[in-house]
Amino acid sequence: MKLSVRGFDIHKGYLDAAAQGDLVADIRDVVAAAPLFSPDTPYGKPMSVRMTSAGSVGWYSGRSGYRYAETHPGGGSWPAIPQAILDVWRGLTGLDRDPDCCLINFYGEGARMGMHQDRDEADFSWPVLSVSLGDAGLFRIGNTTRGGKTESLWLESGDVVVMGGDARLTYHGVDRIRFGSSSLLPKGGRINLTCRVVR
Ligand code: SIN
Ligand code: FE2
Repeated sequence: MKLSVRGFDIHKGYLDAAAQGDLVADIRDVVAAAPLFSPDTPYGKPMSVRMTSAGSVGWYSGRSGYRYAETHPGGGSWPAIPQAILDVWRGLTGLDRDPDCCLINFYGEGARMGMHQDRDEADFSWPVLSVSLGDAGLFRIGNTTRGGKTESLWLESGDVVVMGGDARLTYHGVDRIRFGSSSLLPKGGRINLTCRVVR
């Protein structure tokens, strides 16, 4: 089922349980090679979400601001984006161009993500694709400028969101997760994969 909310295409239940399990196995391989870390924010407080990346560049933030980097903060390059993730990208965006980065966000109990725009990429004509796995997350969608009325919906395991076109710079965030609501991850938590063309 596809919903459109403020220009975001929300593909509910796009990935079945088997596909979700396969993706989790792929993500474990990425995390083994490029461990999750808690980035600092430019405000000095670490983010509640832990993250790592796959692709030619990875995204993180530090005291100096948000950026893409060619290496993991521990040194070493990022692992390749797993084929199954590229297949979701191609299937839903129809693009020949693959993403440069797949950011992997892990939300443990109590983690959240404040309202923000995805705007560290060179060209906003490419869409952003986001895959939700594990526990449900309350996703808030705002406007192309900060503030104003917002709409929220629960993203569940297997849902995929495409943020593109006029909604490419729409503010969004995750207010909270429903910890333990999914059995996909034995210890609970939510994974969000965000694929972007960066260069
Ligand atoms: C993000 O906007 O970076 C993450 C969105 C999500 O976790 O669903
Ligand atoms: Fe985002």
